[in-house]
Amino acid sequence: MDRERADLTGAPATMLATLYGRALHSRTANPVLHDPYAEEAVRRIDHDFAATGLRGNDALSVALRGRLFDDLTAVRLAANPDVVVLHLGCGLDSRGRRLDPPPSVEWYDIDLPEVIDLRERIYPARPHHHVLGASVTAPDLLDGIPGDRPVLVVAEGLLMYLTEADGTALLRRITEHFPAGHLICDVQSPLATRWAHLLNGAVRAAGARLTWGVRGGAELERAVPGLVLDEERTFFDVPGLERVHPAYRALLRGMGGIPALRRLALILTMHFG
Ligand SMILES: C[S@@+](CC[C@H](N)C(=O)[O-])C[C@H]1O[C@@H](n2cnc3c(N)ncnc32)[C@H](O)[C@@H]1O
Repeated sequence: MDRERADLTGAPATMLATLYGRALHSRTANPVLHDPYAEEAVRRIDHDFAATGLRGNDALSVALRGRLFDDLTAVRLAANPDVVVLHLGCGLDSRGRRLDPPPSVEWYDIDLPEVIDLRERIYPARPHHHVLGASVTAPDLLDGIPGDRPVLVVAEGLLMYLTEADGTALLRRITEHFPAGHLICDVQSPLATRWAHLLNGAVRAAGARLTWGVRGGAELERAVPGLVLDEERTFFDVPGLERVHPAYRALLRGMGGIPALRRLALILTMHFG
């Protein structure tokens, strides 16, 4: 089997850690997220995945977040199967394959060109699935994407790598391009972005930097006209968290009692139009 090289550093390299997390967790008994695509991608990529800094509990955390994003995305697709999906900062996540949406959905996997180059070598093309190698901060990002129907934006593990100015400009461009839409995303607090090199082994190992700290959905509502918060979940509310190792669970319980720590990472669902 020919293996593909992944010469990535900084933010693009962090997706190797989340990919590895899903693959590692998928191999465990009774996984919360079964991701055979991640397992196959890890086999195909010539990379020292152990150097991503990811271990057992981290893999479970990645899988729990991925599963929640899958479930939230599936709910939206069931409510309206006639949408354009923007899967921003997709990395090598196979969400579009795992969920296998109906042909009425036009699905766009978007990430930086070096990531999309690798993605295209790993995953074969499929109908109604598009890949776009570009920075989500590019002003012309949406030019070739039909803006005549609602959008579902899924941005998992992305916004914290943008600057506040770039992130809000991206969200404004989306609300201006589409008549209506939903957004499923996660954000990290200013404290979490400052502590990322301590708290997040994968960020540290990749040499990446988190640049946008968001305190909550209300901040995005203020920054982006028309965007309305539907629900805000902390990481502590993610279903399945009780499956972590008991020692880690005790640590999380302690952290969860301190408001600033409880809100280090949030998962937001929002809508506009
Ligand atoms: C932590 S990874 C998450 C990847 C994927 N969502 C997942 O959960 O596996 C962060 C991703 O954001 C992408 N990214 C960071 N800045 C970006 C930008 N300006 N434009 C597009 N993608 C970006 C990186 O290339 C990387 O794939």
